[in-house]
Amino acid sequence: SLSSKTQSSPPTLSIDIDNPASVKRQLAQLFDVSLKTIVPDEEDVVPLVDVCTAKTGSVKFGDYQCNNAMGIWSKLKGKETGFKGPPAIGQAIIKNLPPSEMIDSCSLAGPGFVNVVLSKHWIAQSVQRMLNDGIDTWAPRLPIRRAMVDFSSPNIAKEMHVGHLRSTIIGDTLARMLEFSRVELVTRRNHVGDWGTQFGMLIEYLFEKFPNQEDVSETAIGDLQAFYKASKVRFDDDPEFKLRAQQAVVLLQSGDTRYRKAWQQICDISRAEFDKVYQRLGVQLEEMGESFYNPYIPGVIEKLDKLGLVEDSDGARVIYVEGVNIPIIAVKRDGGYNYFSTDLASLWYRLNKEKLEWIVYVTDIGQQQHFDMLYKAFRRAGWLPRNENAYPKCTHIGFGLVLGNDGKRFRSRSSEVVRLVDLLDEAKRRCKTALLERDTTNDWSEEEIERTSEAIGYGAVKYADLKINRLTNYKFDFDQMLSDKGNTAVYLLYAHARICSIIRKSGKDIEEVKKNGVIVLDHESERLLGLHILQFPEVFEEACSNLLPSVLCDYLYTLAEIFTKKFYSNCQVVGTPEETSRLLLCEATAVVMRKCFYLLGIEPVYKL
Ligand code: ARG
Repeated sequence: SLSSKTQSSPPTLSIDIDNPASVKRQLAQLFDVSLKTIVPDEEDVVPLVDVCTAKTGSVKFGDYQCNNAMGIWSKLKGKETGFKGPPAIGQAIIKNLPPSEMIDSCSLAGPGFVNVVLSKHWIAQSVQRMLNDGIDTWAPRLPIRRAMVDFSSPNIAKEMHVGHLRSTIIGDTLARMLEFSRVELVTRRNHVGDWGTQFGMLIEYLFEKFPNQEDVSETAIGDLQAFYKASKVRFDDDPEFKLRAQQAVVLLQSGDTRYRKAWQQICDISRAEFDKVYQRLGVQLEEMGESFYNPYIPGVIEKLDKLGLVEDSDGARVIYVEGVNIPIIAVKRDGGYNYFSTDLASLWYRLNKEKLEWIVYVTDIGQQQHFDMLYKAFRRAGWLPRNENAYPKCTHIGFGLVLGNDGKRFRSRSSEVVRLVDLLDEAKRRCKTALLERDTTNDWSEEEIERTSEAIGYGAVKYADLKINRLTNYKFDFDQMLSDKGNTAVYLLYAHARICSIIRKSGKDIEEVKKNGVIVLDHESERLLGLHILQFPEVFEEACSNLLPSVLCDYLYTLAEIFTKKFYSNCQVVGTPEETSRLLLCEATAVVMRKCFYLLGIEPVYKL
């Protein structure tokens, strides 16, 4: 009959975060006092506090629980302590809790779980304080000042595919999460693939197509991916062209003006295409492509060599790292550099020149080994601490594939590549059609329709990606993501708009209500909503510690559900004696929802 179980498994990345607004942490502090009193000599006893969850059908005994009794019992066994078993320890934990306005009551369950029922007055006051002081007072603090998220990072002239879209969406959210955690400088780095042997081929093809370099323009080239393919065909079919392309690489690297200019032209055209995607998604990135690090490569490899890390292998220069049987190829047999050489130089630059404390790389899980080897090489060199959780720290954030409806890798119908801009435009177009159908009264302005269909369409694409655990593959399905039912951005944005319209319909100025009104949580549904609002800080901490946006999405969805299905269907707001308090609860819900939307990069909607 053990009904309470711990909710979340412990975070996989243990991270030192200061989070005073977290209910869990506030309770943990109280329990810490109690534990120090009853087992003063057990130094490694830390309070284990978690949310109580009730599986359907079972009773919930509290809001939170402290799970230390069993662990302490097994430590004390055999020692002379006077405790007769875990329940006695549980009782002692309760008895020695310092008095606190947070707690309404405590009880013992099962073999020694201490259940805590929070005081509804305290919940109400805490929510009210957040409303008055702003939700940013609920932000935690990470112990670092400079972080970087390396994300999006498409390759020039090659396909910017749905994998890059995932990286862009996830990376932007992670950067927002770090910013909310008061990291002073969060750099959003676009490590574009703007270097490499493909440029020789592209440049030679460009010269063939446009003997007059002045004629090169985006409109003249049209589709750069098609251009890439055509040049690849030339490269594979004509040995003479191939030779010229190889020489072109050398000329480009030696800084020949004409070749440099052609390279620049190709990069500019690609960049314009990437920017269309970023502009639609509202994502800001600072580009520092692979080419930037080229001059640093020889020096970094030399430093690694001096440390004894670099070996010869068949004329190539390689680095072995712990636990991996293939080496890093730092310099190819022909003396050239590769993707890895660049990452060696760029990580060195980021640690030494940019003085970053936490660098987060966001790519598909296919590159996990690449980053694992990179970090291991840096640990071997003593350039990163042996302890993976110490700063400066590097983390690879991998994600799964985007699949089409058929369960295969996402492709458009013609089995050609999918242009991301087209994909986003399609999402917007579908939303616009749906909006126009809803708007039977025609009270939406042209501009409102545009703005709202963008917010919902792009928001839906982002949310569909963020809500699933990033490591799993997911199906790209317009019908599913644009449905107004279930866990979708459309549902959430509408829920938010509905809250706003309740407040509007009351005819009250919410700022005035905030000044004089008091939140009261007498109804069970009011209390449930208040408590969920108050759990934002600890949920955010969990999302941030594991760099898992899906945790935030689950929270947001539950918030919308509690509001709609519990609070709003049980508690009438406008025209009741509780109106003031309930308007404040509506506002608090909307504020937390908007913070979640912001963190997820979604533009809120205020009108239905
Ligand atoms: N351009 C790479 C790709 O498209 C991603 C780069 C990720 N960042 C890095 N520093 N390696 O797969």
